[in-house]
This record gives sequence, structure tokens and C-alpha cells, in this order.
Amino acid sequence: MAFSERVTRLKSSLIREILAAAQRPEVMSFAGGLPAEAMLPALDWAGMPTSMGQYGTSEGEPALRELLAAEARALGIACQASQVLVLSGSQQALDLATKLYIDKGTEVIVEGPTYLAALQTFQLFGAECLSVPLGADGPHIDALRARLEQHAPAFVYLIPTFQNPSGVRYSEAARARVAALLDEFGVTLIEDEPYRELTYDGGMAAPIAGRLRKASWVYTGTVSKTLLPGLRVGYLIASPDLFAHLLRLKQAADLHTNRVGQWQAMQWLGTEKYRQHLGELRGFYRERRDAMQQALEQHLGDLADWHVPQGGLFFWLTLKQPIDTRTLVAAAMAQDVAFMPGEPFFADPDANPGCLRLNFSHVAPHRLQEGVLRLAHVIRQAQAAQAAA
Ligand SMILES: Cc1ncc(COP(=O)(O)O)c(C=O)c1O
Repeated sequence: MAFSERVTRLKSSLIREILAAAQRPEVMSFAGGLPAEAMLPALDWAGMPTSMGQYGTSEGEPALRELLAAEARALGIACQASQVLVLSGSQQALDLATKLYIDKGTEVIVEGPTYLAALQTFQLFGAECLSVPLGADGPHIDALRARLEQHAPAFVYLIPTFQNPSGVRYSEAARARVAALLDEFGVTLIEDEPYRELTYDGGMAAPIAGRLRKASWVYTGTVSKTLLPGLRVGYLIASPDLFAHLLRLKQAADLHTNRVGQWQAMQWLGTEKYRQHLGELRGFYRERRDAMQQALEQHLGDLADWHVPQGGLFFWLTLKQPIDTRTLVAAAMAQDVAFMPGEPFFADPDANPGCLRLNFSHVAPHRLQEGVLRLAHVIRQAQAAQAAA
């Protein structure tokens, strides 16, 4: 059978296997980025007009676009509703940006580590992903400058707020420096912010897109982490030079985002009910974050280093004695523990051994201790075996 040449770049996914196995009820899963089931709000469908069952516009529901533009303006992004495109999840922003920019061999800059499904999308279309290492406050600026001087990337893809997988939130200074560099080199920014609202210390920092003076940009967000991922409602906001192209790509992909999900999102965004829900969500996740921190200190303190995440859904651990964490997956699964190995979050996995991503939103606190204890045991055994070899 003759498939497209890009299909040869589809990776067999260890990640898909982990996530599938993690569905088993007995498994303590630190693997996915799922919201806690208990915090998915109950939806009220009463009052939804029948017209929401009809085809809609590719741009999205006008009232929702207005709402999203107003929210973005409040974050310092000067934009109009005409620059908002409602999407089938923010994942679609990555797909559309890929189709807009990437041919085989196109260079793009990503953080090291970065969101692995973004890497997969970019690489499927043949991108050469160039990494810039991520520090505690943002990307290494000298490394970013060097990349921009030596290459002509189509875009820079960044997750500046509670990054997946590292949990890093860029400082104000890092945001300003990144914006200045992108303006200086005239390189497009793709800024992905699904975790912005999940802040546990109350801290907020304005997006980088709003700081740009010259460079083109795409800012993307979603209701997946604050309402329900099953709604499949996200959005992008783009600089005017990019919008018309992205709109045509959206139309070609799926005509428009499901209208019932858009209608539901409109019942929440900007309302008092939503503000209240966000407050409860932050409290709930902060507690789980703290429980995870306690379990990690108790069982993994001698094995790994990490920063306590101030938002988002993940701890990112660096083993003091590096080992390819992909080799730990089977042993952990045998103990009914799922986690995400760190290597696939890097453009060059084999050069970056020894990190793990642990989600803290999903496992109930009373099972969490046991899960972390078992994981620590698996790591100790593997390291002992490595030392003996
Ligand atoms: C960084 C990042 N971008 C995009 C997405 C996709 O989210 P959505 O459900 O809106 O498609 C995720 C989901 O985990 C994510 O972590």
C-alpha cells in the first residue's frame, strides 16, 4: 500500500502504550495530563438553541470570539475578535501552525524539554526541531540568541506558563528578553498556554505575544484544563498577517469547531460561576500538589532533584544518577504505577536521559504515597542493577 512519505515519520508510541495501560483502574497513574475527574463541572444543557446543531462558521461563534478577545486584551494582547479562531482543542493550533510553516527540513526552535505531542506534530511534517535548554526562569537566552543567529527557523514554539513537562513559569525578565530577540530576528512566536489559569501561588505573568512589536505571533489557549477536555474547545489568536491563512487551513481540516462545545464554553467563560470554579480548582490541585511534594520528599529525596511547581499539573524530576527512564516503564507498570519517561520530551531523546514527568492531579492523595513509594523502589532497583553491570 502506498501511504504518504510523512507516514514513515509516525513514531510507534511508547506514550500511547503507557496511557492505554494507565486506564486500568488498579493502576496509579502519574502519566497523563488529565484533570481530576471529581473537578469536571456538571454541565447544564437546558437552554441550548436547536440552531447549535446546524453547521457554523469556520471562525467560531461570534460571541465566543468576542469573549476570548476581551480576555486576551486583559492579558495585554492587543487584538480584536476578528483575530480569534475557535479550534477543536489547542492541539489544533499546533496542527495548523505546522501546516502553515513546515515542509521537510524546515527548522523550528523548541524548548528542551517541550510538549511531546507538539514535537510529534512538527516532526510528522518533517521539521528539524532545534532545542534551547530551559532553566528555572525560562529559556537560556544566550542559547536562544545563538540558535537565531545560526539558523533561520520558521517559528519558535514556547509554553511560558507552567510548562509541560517542566512546570517552569518564565519570569517577567525572561519574557521581555525573549520578545526582544524575536522582534530583533523577525521570527514568528507560537505561544501555547493551556495551564495559565492553574496558578497555586496567585502569580501571573503577561503573555509574550503582547510584548512583540514586529514579529508575527500565534497565541493559543483551551478550556481543556479548566473545564472539560472532552468538549474539545480551544482557540488561537493570531497577528493579522497570519489569520487568513490559518482560517483557510482550519476550514480545510474540519470546517468548524463543534458548536455544542462552543455554546457550553460560552456558559462559563467570563462568568462569576467560572471564577468560582477556578478558585475551587486551584485549591483542589494545590492540595494534591502539596501531597505529591510530601510523598516525593519522603521517598525520592535522595534519588532526584526538582522544583515545586507553582502551577500546572506536573512535577519534573531529574535523577541524581541518570538512567534512561524509558527502561523503567515496564517494571513500574508491573507494580501498577504509570509515569511519563522524560526522554520523549526532548528533540534528541537519547542525549537527555534521567528525567521523569509526574502528574499530580489524577491520583487521589490516599493512594499517592503508595504509588511514589513503588516508583522509588523501581528506580532504586534499576540503578543498583546498572551499578552492578
Ligand atoms: C502544552 C500543551 N499544549 C496543548 C495541549 C492540548 O490541549 P487541548 O486539549 O486543548 O487540545 C496540551 C494538553 O495536554 C498541552 O499540555
